[in-house]
This record gives sequence, C-alpha cells and structure tokens, in this order.
Amino acid sequence: MILEKLRGVRVSGLGKSLPQKVLTNKDLENMVNTSDQWITTRTGIKERRITAIDESSSTLALRAAREALQKAGIKPEHLDLIIVATTTPDMLFPSTACLVQAGLGAQKAAAFDLEAACSGFIYASAVGSQFVATGMFEYVLVVGVDTLSKFVDWEDRSTCVLFGDAAAAAVLEPAPCGQGFLSFVLGADGSGCDYLKMPAGGSLLPPSHETVAAKLHTIKMKGNEVFRFAVKAMAEAALESLTCAGLRVDELDLLIPHQANYRIIESVRKRIGVLSEKVFVNLEKYGNTSAASVPLALSEAVEEGYIREGSKVVLTAFGAGFTWAACTIRW
Ligand code: ACO
Repeated sequence: MILEKLRGVRVSGLGKSLPQKVLTNKDLENMVNTSDQWITTRTGIKERRITAIDESSSTLALRAAREALQKAGIKPEHLDLIIVATTTPDMLFPSTACLVQAGLGAQKAAAFDLEAACSGFIYASAVGSQFVATGMFEYVLVVGVDTLSKFVDWEDRSTCVLFGDAAAAAVLEPAPCGQGFLSFVLGADGSGCDYLKMPAGGSLLPPSHETVAAKLHTIKMKGNEVFRFAVKAMAEAALESLTCAGLRVDELDLLIPHQANYRIIESVRKRIGVLSEKVFVNLEKYGNTSAASVPLALSEAVEEGYIREGSKVVLTAFGAGFTWAACTIRW
C-alpha cells in the first residue's frame, strides 16, 4: 500500500529494553550438546539476553515504551493507541497492550495486541500508521516484544541456541507527505503453520498434565524449511516495498532485516543486490528476539548513526504463520 495520498507518518522516538542476564554460547555448551563454533558458523549468534523470573513481556515492553515516549517528547496521556506485537503475551488475556497502557498511565489510549510472530513490529507499524495517516489518531505507540526464552525447550539444541528476549518501541506521529513511512508490504501463508509453532496452551490443546509432559508448550521448528522460506519472503517483500516507494535498490541507504540467522541475512542481501555495508546486523549480541528483532535493530542503527535525516531505510521480516512484511522509510 502507498501512503502518499494520506497524511505522512513518521517515527518520532525509539526505545529498547534488554534483560540484564547474558547467556553466551559457552554457557550453552554446559547445557546441551553444542559448541560455540557450531552456533557461530551456523547462525552468527554469540550471546543472547534472558529474562529474570520476575520479568515478562509487559515489563520489558513498558521500559522500552517509556524510553520511546521520552525520546519523542510525548507524555503517556497524549497517546491515542498502543499496539503490542508479541507471540509471548503475559497471559492469554488481558492483552499485554492493556498492561502497558496501565503501567504508562496512558488513560486515553486504546490498546490491543497483534500476533504476527517475527513480522509483528512491521505489521503493527502498518496498522498504527493507518490511524495516523487518516487523521483518526495523532500518536500511536507500537511495541515489539518477545520473551521466547520462557517457551524454549532447554534440552532441544536445535532451537534453544537461537532465541533471546527483548523489547523495542516506536512512537508514530504525523509528518509531512513524503517523509516517514513510504510503503508497506504485508503477507501470510498459513499453509506453513506446522513448520514453526508452539502447539499447546491455546483452545486446541489447553494446558493439561499430558501437554506439559509432552513438552507441547515449547517451540517446535523445522529449521531448514523455515530458512528457505525466510530468504525468499524477506527478499521479495523488501524489493516490492522499495518499488512501491518509487525507489531503486541503489538508492537504499540501509537494509534492516529480521535478525534470525546471519546466513539468512546474507542470502537475502545477495538476492536483493545490496552491499554488505548497507545491511545492519546485531544478532551476534541478542539472537533472534522475534517481534523485538526489527525495532531493536532500528533503534541501535539510529543510536549508532547509521540512519540520519533523509536516510532511505527498508525493514523486512518473516516469522511463524508464515508471515512476512517489509516497509520503506524516509527518515
Ligand atoms: N549444536 C550442534 N549441532 C546442532 C545444533 C546445535 N545447537 N542444532 C542442530 N545441530 C545438528 C543437527 O542435529 C544436525 O545433525 P545431523 O546432521 O547429525 O542430523 C546438524 O546439526 C545440521 O542440522 P541442520 O538443521 O541441517 O542445520 P542448519 O545448517 O539448517 O542450521 C538452523 C539449523 C540454524 C536452525 C537453520 O536451519 C536456521 O537458522 N533456520 C531458520 C530458523 C529461524 O530463523 N527460525 C526463527 C523464525 S522466526 C519466528 O517466527 C520465531
């Protein structure tokens, strides 16, 4: 979708929140039959952050939200809407967005969660942008948060080395036309639902002694199939988003892909035809933080000076579902 006929929408503040506990590849060597060498060469990940027992998706989200509001110069009471993109809500209901709304004291804000796995932040930004673009709302807070460490089977070496916990948030506000988000591409293919899922805990398989004993409340993934799908989906979405924004690949200043695996990022980069120095990567520090991955990378890219006013940035992601999403931003 092209937003040029509506109000422009830009990101006016970003925030991030990371648990203090660092789990390194060396630590994992003492937990499962793996090695720093295998994890590094197959994924690029060196360490990840793990939530403490008293932390949850809402506590991380709240911290990221406060920082984003402060950077945007917006008070919580000015927020019209809070969307939290997460697959690991504090509980099935109420929504994590409502917990964040209460924690912030954002009395007038509507609040809901959105579930699109690792594509969640771009999906939520697309949804939030519509409200600002049409003039219905002025300030929308979008949070990407996941605490997958709580849902990993710590005896399954094929998944437990991949994920980390984090939150990152963005405040969306009106901007002059042609600034901020230029295009969004969203997609899904539900026939891929069995490749990456947490089978129990919902209405199909509510929690029972049997589901717990069978470890059905943990992540199940067919990594190879996800890998192949991810490369194609992220590259095609990024290219479509650039075309919708009226930009050529060589005009792109920075590509921020979902941070799942360095080999996926490298394959996406080659398919798109972007130089390595135009691709932002921070997965070595955090692993795959799911819905937080893209906004966390965006936030660090801004902090580290890779994005300046006028920079043309593409975000692209894929996740369970399958879902995929991309957007082009003129910063
Ligand atoms: N340490 C050591 N050996 C391992 C480990 C480990 N942590 N994990 C798997 N292996 C072994 C396997 O058992 C297998 O051994 P075998 O040949 O004796 O059977 C061997 O390594 C190769 O396994 P593969 O699965 O073929 O390894 P691959 O190179 O495909 O890498 C990986 C696996 C990293 C999971 C890769 O497929 C991948 O990154 N896939 C995408 C995953 C992803 O991004 N998921 C998140 C999606 S986002 C979301 O929505 C949450």
